[in-house]
Amino acid sequence: MKPIAGAPHAPLPAEHSSPRRGGALHRPRSKNWDRHVEHVEALAHTPAFCALRDEVLRLAALQRDDQVLDIGAGTGLLALAAAPHVAHVTAVEISPRMGERLESQRRNAGIENVHTIVASASALPIGAETIDVVVSNYCFHHMGEAEKLRALDEILRVLRPNGRLVLADMMFAVGVVDPRDRAVAWLLVRRLLRKGLPGALRLAKNGLRMLAGRWEHPASIDWWRRALPRAGFAGVEVSALDHEGGIATARKPHPESTAPDEGASAG
Ligand SMILES: C[S@@+](CC[C@H](N)C(=O)[O-])C[C@H]1O[C@@H](n2cnc3c(N)ncnc32)[C@H](O)[C@@H]1O
Repeated sequence: MKPIAGAPHAPLPAEHSSPRRGGALHRPRSKNWDRHVEHVEALAHTPAFCALRDEVLRLAALQRDDQVLDIGAGTGLLALAAAPHVAHVTAVEISPRMGERLESQRRNAGIENVHTIVASASALPIGAETIDVVVSNYCFHHMGEAEKLRALDEILRVLRPNGRLVLADMMFAVGVVDPRDRAVAWLLVRRLLRKGLPGALRLAKNGLRMLAGRWEHPASIDWWRRALPRAGFAGVEVSALDHEGGIATARKPHPESTAPDEGASAG
């Protein structure tokens, strides 16, 4: 774990490549996010991502004294928008350059209650039960299944009882059986083909990467509906958006609560 220069808090004693739980993190040929700062920043300004930001923060129902954690914070789309409404935001980002950009945007905006940490979602250098709300936008489909599950364990560990999770991501399976998956695949193909030759080349490249098992790893709506209760979350709701995305909301059960959905299993 590396703090970003200028971050107001002292670094915590953990190494992002050495998760505390579950052994060494296997990250074969992981993407070098340092090279994608401009792209992530440009995406953050698109109407689609701004709409996702607003929806995630609306569902998070932020309160003045909330401690918020943004996972895969990028250049700060969620973290910087949440900051004025809460006590503190911790932005976790695996890429040092992305974190530096977030920090410079934070400084330029005069925001003082955001702390950026360079770390992996699957080994959060954050104390147990210190966070009220975890948010995340379009980060999880960059993790394989084992890493996703480890990140969910970590989220559950750092959330206070009754703490909330709001997670937006690409949510579909690559396949033709499920009608929504089919529609999403077509949407993505059409989106690329509209870009002409560069789009067609990108499509071919993605096809090859998919065959080689090196494409992104979106999980389907059903996967999230099963994985969140199995990880120990309660009140799980996962809905598809009108594109490839979906939003999951859940909360950490309170040990003394007897609400009917506590510890519910999605089967
Ligand atoms: C598509 S960008 C989205 C960024 C930001 N959430 C937004 O909505 O603008 C995905 C981000 O997740 C980060 N990321 C990918 N894998 C990660 C991991 N295992 N732990 C923490 N961050 C990760 C990347 O560095 C990148 O900044």
